[in-house]
Amino acid sequence: MQHISVAVIPGDGIGPEVMEEGLKVLKSIEEIHGGLRFEWDTFDWSCRYYLKHGRMMPENGLDVLREYDVILLGAIGAPTVPDHISLWELLLPIRRTFQQYINLRPIKLLRGLESPLRHKSHEHLDFVVVRENTEGEYSDMGGRLHRGTPYEMAVQNNVFTRYGVERVVKYAFNLAEKRRKRVAAATKSNGINHTMPFWDEIVREIAARHPDVRTDIYHIDALAAYFVTRPESFDVVVASNLFGDILTDLGAALVGGLGLAPSGNINPERAYPSMFEPIHGSAPDIAGKGIANPIAQIWSISMMMEHLHQPELAGLILEAIEEVLAERKVLTPDLGGKASTAELGGELVRKLKALS
Ligand code: NAI
Ligand code: MG
Repeated sequence: MQHISVAVIPGDGIGPEVMEEGLKVLKSIEEIHGGLRFEWDTFDWSCRYYLKHGRMMPENGLDVLREYDVILLGAIGAPTVPDHISLWELLLPIRRTFQQYINLRPIKLLRGLESPLRHKSHEHLDFVVVRENTEGEYSDMGGRLHRGTPYEMAVQNNVFTRYGVERVVKYAFNLAEKRRKRVAAATKSNGINHTMPFWDEIVREIAARHPDVRTDIYHIDALAAYFVTRPESFDVVVASNLFGDILTDLGAALVGGLGLAPSGNINPERAYPSMFEPIHGSAPDIAGKGIANPIAQIWSISMMMEHLHQPELAGLILEAIEEVLAERKVLTPDLGGKASTAELGGELVRKLKALS
């Protein structure tokens, strides 16, 4: 029997709602596999926790998480707590302390779904964005001066290290070797004239070691347009922290919206736990209504299975999602249906068991 310890952080808003369905899937995976046991502990670290304790997680929170094999997260954020606090005091410390330097985001149009791109179907939309997850534009370096005066100012520095860029670019090329052997790198070396030429240099260095991989370096603005006009030309897209963040919301919109989009924050060396979460936030506008789409959360669990060397289970979960989408009987309102979060989650679990 293989035991896998999972730290579960449901978070705020719709986070706990979609997590509940995710945990049902975990339970059913145990039944399907037989040789796998998930031992999960739930942590209420969130904006609610912050309002009670003045911090997003306990002082030893990271030490607690360190002991787990993987972390499963819902979503964090509430209108009552500034977003930079919830991000910088919970999500970013986890991503950085645990060297989850790869943020992996599949952009894949599942069978049974239509893209808002009129002439594109699922054979045109199947690529992966590899986003740098520990440095770049989301650095804590900078500050503000002369607050409250007419000279008030703010500076935020971008941080690109050779070590940091090399490891994310290498990961992207290795991934492309296993896929369709194409890498597109996002740059803006015309406007951002120090860090981005440095990024491009490293992309070219690593590309030279992969002569069989076709490499394109695109300015981010053009790249965003190509996502819309020729998504079929992409296989692996590698981008800095900010560029990757923006590109993946666009990508998510092309394949059905945030309710479907999963992500993995991965420490490839496995020295620390990796974290799997939907891309979406806590969606205060629909929180409490029981209508959030749980698929992004459940697809994140599929990515977690991939990471845990269980590709068959990962595939099975995705197949269940595709079947339920194709049947179009039980869908949440964001997909044009009337079902609740729990109804769609229940249907996915039924399908998963039927397919196994
Ligand atoms: P959001 O992703 O929460 O919502 C954007 C829109 O998508 C909303 O209209 C929402 O109803 C819809 N949506 C999102 N997930 C959905 C789902 N599963 N099913 C159906 N509809 C869904 O982004 P927003 O509104 O910018 O941020 C809300 C809060 O979430 C903020 O506090 C923000 O900081 C936080 N946030 C947290 C993230 C995380 O935990 N990783 C990521 C993004 C935002
Ligand atoms: Mg984002």
